[in-house]
Amino acid sequence: MTIHVRIRAERAPGEKRVAATPDSVKKLRAAGASVQVESGAGLGSLLTDAAYEAAGAGIVADHAAVEPGTVLLHVRPLSADETSALPAGTVTVGTLDPFQHPGSVTAARDARVTTFALDMLPRISRAQSMDVLSSQALLAGYRLVTLAADAFGRMFGMTMTAAGTLAPARVLVLGAGVAGLQAIATAKRLGAVVSANDVRAASADEVRSVGGTFIDLDLGTAEAGGGYAKELAEDRARRQQELLAPHIAASDIVLTTAAVPGRAAPRLVTADMVAAMRPGSVLVDLAAESGGNIEGSVPGEWRTVPVPGGALTLIGARDIQSDLAPDASKLYAMNCANFTALIMKDGDLMLDFDDELVSGSVVTHDGAVRNERVAASIEGVRA
Ligand SMILES: NC(=O)c1ccc[n+]([C@@H]2O[C@H](COP(=O)([O-])OP(=O)(O)OC[C@H]3O[C@@H](n4cnc5c(N)ncnc54)[C@H](O)[C@@H]3O)[C@@H](O)[C@H]2O)c1
Repeated sequence: MTIHVRIRAERAPGEKRVAATPDSVKKLRAAGASVQVESGAGLGSLLTDAAYEAAGAGIVADHAAVEPGTVLLHVRPLSADETSALPAGTVTVGTLDPFQHPGSVTAARDARVTTFALDMLPRISRAQSMDVLSSQALLAGYRLVTLAADAFGRMFGMTMTAAGTLAPARVLVLGAGVAGLQAIATAKRLGAVVSANDVRAASADEVRSVGGTFIDLDLGTAEAGGGYAKELAEDRARRQQELLAPHIAASDIVLTTAAVPGRAAPRLVTADMVAAMRPGSVLVDLAAESGGNIEGSVPGEWRTVPVPGGALTLIGARDIQSDLAPDASKLYAMNCANFTALIMKDGDLMLDFDDELVSGSVVTHDGAVRNERVAASIEGVRA
């Protein structure tokens, strides 16, 4: 039996990404699947229905009912209503963010839909080609810098001319994971002087490897398992803010990307620290949607903040991967196609729960919530 893979047209306003490209369609077909794309699904990424058809996909009406036995590829988490409308046995593959969307998880459980959250994949080397968190964070890190450059109104690199010398921009990156490291490398390529801070032990070397200067606050490290950071206790978090304050005041541009899985983003920059920066400075907060690393950042807003002698710009990032939709879709689509190939054998569905990538990313299956942490958090919501 041939598996039917369906590509969803994303419903969220402003979402331009899509979970397949013509190249990933070819890959899915080579693995034995037939592919149907919802009409217009690729337009935000400049991909036409005709381009998908040329790659061998069929085009179906946007929002058309999903056939039983379909693997549905998506970017954004499906709503509870959309999930409830799926036939039992549908398999969904995409970003789920299950702790933030408990209603969609229970809807999938009750509708006997199997959901795979690519954002829950264990980050082992074999998962790299399916790792949507990494592929999308990479683009977010790049976009942070180009957003800041738009708002800055000055050059990043030092420039000497007969009329005078332009000083290089001083860029500070807080949180040097996948997005932060890409931001450092990008700002560096534009000629800025870049420094960074993070709480993971490996981060000092990682920052240096992409050309940044690591700011060691002598706070010790804070690590959970799997290469992730741990939340700092309140006194250490306050101390981190105090120690960062002079570095922030000396920067022209502050880019923040700090995150702790399952927690609100750590507050690294207070309103007082923002107010102590020079006029013309720019701050961009990638964590604006998840609690905010910077006090006062609002997702999707460019705020002009008065400071002594003028004003600065505080940008709260929102959906910034969509600003680079063609590339974001290209990587996301290949992540989805690689995972789909993992759950197929000879053109048929084959769910091997002994594979840690399959068992690590499944959220619901056979009418049950299979991920223990997600199940516990849903029980917590109900209690
Ligand atoms: N092996 C793999 O295949 C693989 C793939 C991707 C990422 N990783 C690793 O996973 C780790 C997490 O990457 P991520 O970008 O998804 O992380 P993330 O998005 O969870 O967090 C972003 C960064 O914020 C930092 N952070 C948290 N609290 C902070 C604080 N108070 N101050 C400063 N920084 C703070 C984290 O240490 C992290 O570097 C990294 O070590 C990365 O190298 C491994």
